Amino acid sequence: MIEFRNISKSYKNSEVLKHISFDIHEGEIVVLIGPSGCGKTTTLKMINRLIEPTEGEILINGKNIREEDPIALRRGMGYVIQQTGLFPHMTVRQNIEVIPRLEKRPHEDIAKNTLALMKMVGLDPDAYLDRYPVQLSGGQLQRIGVARAFATNPDIILMDEPFSALDPITRSGLQDELVNLQAHLKKPLYLSPMIWTKL
Ligand SMILES: Nc1ncnc2c1ncn2[C@@H]1O[C@H](COP(=O)(O)OP(=O)(O)OP(=O)(O)O)[C@@H](O)[C@H]1O
Ligand SMILES: [Mg+2]
Repeated sequence: MIEFRNISKSYKNSEVLKHISFDIHEGEIVVLIGPSGCGKTTTLKMINRLIEPTEGEILINGKNIREEDPIALRRGMGYVIQQTGLFPHMTVRQNIEVIPRLEKRPHEDIAKNTLALMKMVGLDPDAYLDRYPVQLSGGQLQRIGVARAFATNPDIILMDEPFSALDPITRSGLQDELVNLQAHLKKPLYLSPMIWTKL
């Protein structure tokens, strides 16, 4: 489903990634592990074209992503960045529902899905949906970021250290929850490769 073919990335004189090739198949969870600065975020951001490779190509479902519109490409992917990237002027609910609403999904379906996502990330909807990001802790923000990435049920979910702000017990619980969810979604229509850069 996702193929890296001989990918290299250089900044000026320094080569960050050298001839990376790998395949990710439908339904797989892939975790990139390595020391700080080794190129995990760079690898992840090349999949949604926030960073372009210096050499090589990336294919998704057989198509070279360089030939695709980056905005359309990103619409098909959930993306959780380390700093969560929530919109500060929107409530938790508005943040989670922003893309589903743009896609004009039925309101009832959106609301139901939002409740399920809050349950998945272990936050009480009544207590948190109407709050603004500034009213949440770092770990709660990250969990909303994860919920938002799942909101459109995308085929690919990119997560860059999504749990770094969580305490070890909550982190481990949420990781289990996501692995369970992934196992559930492994139906013909809902195969979701997830790429987590660090757990
Ligand atoms: N715009 C840039 N210009 C020059 N060098 C860069 C740029 N962006 C990243 N780098 C370098 O590329 C290397 C890989 O960075 P990257 O962010 O992918 O690392 P990482 O594995 O995600 O690290 P961390 O675990 O600290 O998040 C680093 O050495 C970094 O300094
Ligand atoms: Mg990184």
